[in-house]
Amino acid sequence: MRIVNTRINHIENPVGFHMDSLTFNWKVVDAEGKRIRWARVQVAADQDMSQIVYDSGLCPKVFNILYDWKKETAGFVPQPCMRYYWWVTVEDNAGCQAMSEISFFEMAKPEKEWEGKWIASMLKRNSCVLYREFETDQSIQWARLYITGLGLYEVYLNGQKVGDEYLTPGFNDYESFLQFQTYEAEEMLRNGRNHLEIWLGNGWYRGRYLSFDEKSSERYGDTLCALAELYVKYEDGTITKICTDCDWKSKGGNIVHAELYDGEILDDTLALAEECVKVLPEMGYERLEARRSIPIKVMHIKNPVSLIHTAKGECILDFGQNMAGWVTFYNRLPQGHTCRYVAGEILQDNCFYHENLRSAKTEFVYTSDGQEKWVRPHFTYYGFRYLLIEGFGDCIDLNDFAAEVLYSQMEQTGFLQTGHEKVNQLISNVLWGQRSNFIDVPTDCPQRDERLGWTGDTQVFAGTGMFQMNAVVFYRKYMYDMYQEQKKRNGKVPFVVPNISFGDQVSAAWSDAAVIVPWKLYMMYGDKEILKEQYTGMKAWLDYIRRRDRENGDQRIWYADCHFGDWLSLDAPNNELTGGTDMVLIATAYYYQDAVLTAKAAEVLEYWQDVADYRQLAKEICQAFQREYFTESGRLAADTQTAHALVLFMGLYREGQQLRLVERLEELIQQNGGCLNTGFVGTACLCSALSMHGKNRLAYQLLLNEDYPSWLYQVNLGATTIWERWNSVLPDGRLNPDGMNSLNHYAYGAIVEWIYHYGAGIKPLEPGWRKIGIAPMPDRRLGKLQAEYQSESGKVVSGWEYLENDRIHYYMEVPFNTTAELTLPDGTCMEVKSGHYDYIQCAPKQGKGFDSSTEVTVLLSDDEAREVIGKHAPELLHIPVQCVQGNLKKIMLNVFSGGDRLKYDKLVEELKKL
Ligand code: BGC
Repeated sequence: MRIVNTRINHIENPVGFHMDSLTFNWKVVDAEGKRIRWARVQVAADQDMSQIVYDSGLCPKVFNILYDWKKETAGFVPQPCMRYYWWVTVEDNAGCQAMSEISFFEMAKPEKEWEGKWIASMLKRNSCVLYREFETDQSIQWARLYITGLGLYEVYLNGQKVGDEYLTPGFNDYESFLQFQTYEAEEMLRNGRNHLEIWLGNGWYRGRYLSFDEKSSERYGDTLCALAELYVKYEDGTITKICTDCDWKSKGGNIVHAELYDGEILDDTLALAEECVKVLPEMGYERLEARRSIPIKVMHIKNPVSLIHTAKGECILDFGQNMAGWVTFYNRLPQGHTCRYVAGEILQDNCFYHENLRSAKTEFVYTSDGQEKWVRPHFTYYGFRYLLIEGFGDCIDLNDFAAEVLYSQMEQTGFLQTGHEKVNQLISNVLWGQRSNFIDVPTDCPQRDERLGWTGDTQVFAGTGMFQMNAVVFYRKYMYDMYQEQKKRNGKVPFVVPNISFGDQVSAAWSDAAVIVPWKLYMMYGDKEILKEQYTGMKAWLDYIRRRDRENGDQRIWYADCHFGDWLSLDAPNNELTGGTDMVLIATAYYYQDAVLTAKAAEVLEYWQDVADYRQLAKEICQAFQREYFTESGRLAADTQTAHALVLFMGLYREGQQLRLVERLEELIQQNGGCLNTGFVGTACLCSALSMHGKNRLAYQLLLNEDYPSWLYQVNLGATTIWERWNSVLPDGRLNPDGMNSLNHYAYGAIVEWIYHYGAGIKPLEPGWRKIGIAPMPDRRLGKLQAEYQSESGKVVSGWEYLENDRIHYYMEVPFNTTAELTLPDGTCMEVKSGHYDYIQCAPKQGKGFDSSTEVTVLLSDDEAREVIGKHAPELLHIPVQCVQGNLKKIMLNVFSGGDRLKYDKLVEELKKL
């Protein structure tokens, strides 16, 4: 037995993070036993674990140990700036014991107590450098740099960049809180003279951004500034602090201009004059908090795959993959020479194309100082696959260029492999969508003049995001951001978080992220402490809708507010962006779901009054919904795929109406040529609604469709990420003339959650995967599927593969200390303990999926179907071709009079068996 992945608050060896409580996590692998008998966590003040400061004792039946020190009256209270070491010992039910390696966590300095002063350049510049020299005179034992800067900062000690993260201090609502980082600095200090330098750029704080109102820059402030304290502890135990103050100097810096959207102009030839700094007492210290954001790092490096010379005479690098980050190049230019690159997502007419990035210039202009070195931008990033390069000379060496993919440091936890190459490409595209858009905040897209934390995109993608990567700390910080916005608006959740550019409006399916994301986080990661922290935001949002409802006479229908509807769906009458489904229906469905989930969260947290309240509310909304949207006999008033999918997915139907709804949904899909026509809202739940209600085959059909509109249509056209619109690129390769064509918008990537939940059939039945549902739903057209998920409880595997002789092999892995409910298509259903399981069975009869909604032409082209038709309704075989356009139901109604109903039913019944 081994213990791995030891984490504090889900972070490996955290240094300087904000912590109100401590959650200890770990995973047990290679165990003899099946269950934990007890676990014991010990924390020490020293690396040898001899000065124990906390001992949990033997805790039976633990999952994540939570140690909430705020409530602790005696004993261990972690001290600021201190590093603690810890380990965990586990005994399993076979009597074996294992002890983890020693891990650590280090506390930040006191958040609001600073000796350093906020300082800024005297002149207002787009970018500047603040610096000072200082001496150290003895050998150094320990050094820490506590620092923040606004908008963005990079800090250098003796010419070397401190830390390997970028775009610090990250993106959040700077009015509400300011994050500072902690860096280990002892290795970088020199005995004698040292030089500390802080570079500042606009970033989100002061930069240009998309806005619906007048103000489109300086949203949070107009002055670049920094605050820092460098603690140096010498061998003799004395500590000195080098703090930002009026003794610092400032200069313009080599960055002439930097903006997130536009890129950077860097000139290494500039002679820079020394200036004084000014102190900004008005900035205060109240907003300062130890960091919550995980670091943005270079997570992958991609080399160009080809160099393209275009008819226009352009020189373009193709990196073969759409992504976000920047390109670093090896400078060989003589002094004073300038080169430039521009980032783009797609070629048009085999030439460079930039228009879909709208006003974002996405360039990097560099003037060389003649030194050979790697050069990169600092206070910007790009969403791109292609790079137009100019001024690099005639002889381009591809090895001189490398794309550095930037995103918040998260490890991949989900791995999918199927027997279908195009589906594998789709899965990769969705993963790259996350890699490109998880840059401190989950953004809609990484390339054009937008890149904002759109809440709707987050809401639909969060489930996929949590499968693909360990995203718990990332979303924890984002939900904290969201709550800061809610606090300012009496519970309202704005369109984008942080609310950099939009007013106070809300929208169903967007703002509901406040409820849906916390619940998903809880189920996926099982941390009750996080749920507790986020519950206030859930409740505040739900109570907002309820207040709006009250203004309308407590009808339990969400009439108020203006919504995005089923954004970008294809069923809107005049191509309207908000789609073809009644907005109030969508809003009320979400109102219902919010009430259900908030009641569940209240139950976990034992807030019994809320449980009763919200359950009652959910019941009333459901009744009102049914009164408003269903006819007496069960027809749904909104006749769209999205409306049916939502109602089926959320369970908003009356007992007994289900079948009719499913049939109608199927018909709607068949009428649309067997394709979806859903937007942001419907797409996220369409396949799940089908698989949940016996139409798994149709769900697979949607996954596997290759014609427009479908996921694989994009793959066929060479997509390497997910597009904003189903038809962002037209079949001839041209961009959709309607505009708004991001080629890296992850929202429709929500399909990957369906692949895990239904294809592989894995779900947490209890929070944190303590109890696992495994119910694979195979489909022959995919050949095989393997899903592996590194859950909070350990590795979960579910796979299947079609074999010869019409057999199928299922295999699963259930991690230590969990149980799984295993359900196979043949009806096998059992509860199993941790271990590996294998089954070879007859492949489930898949059927052809025929029923009353199948197009008659399809039936007539199938031999078996013709045979059945010949038996039960031979007339059909003799109808002229031009009269059989339509589905079976429609044609049969034309052909048979009422008395033949029985005949018709029999025919459908037999066809379904095929
Ligand atoms: C964004 C979307 C967002 C939508 C809302 C767009 O501009 O890119 O992803 O959800 O607006 O209407």
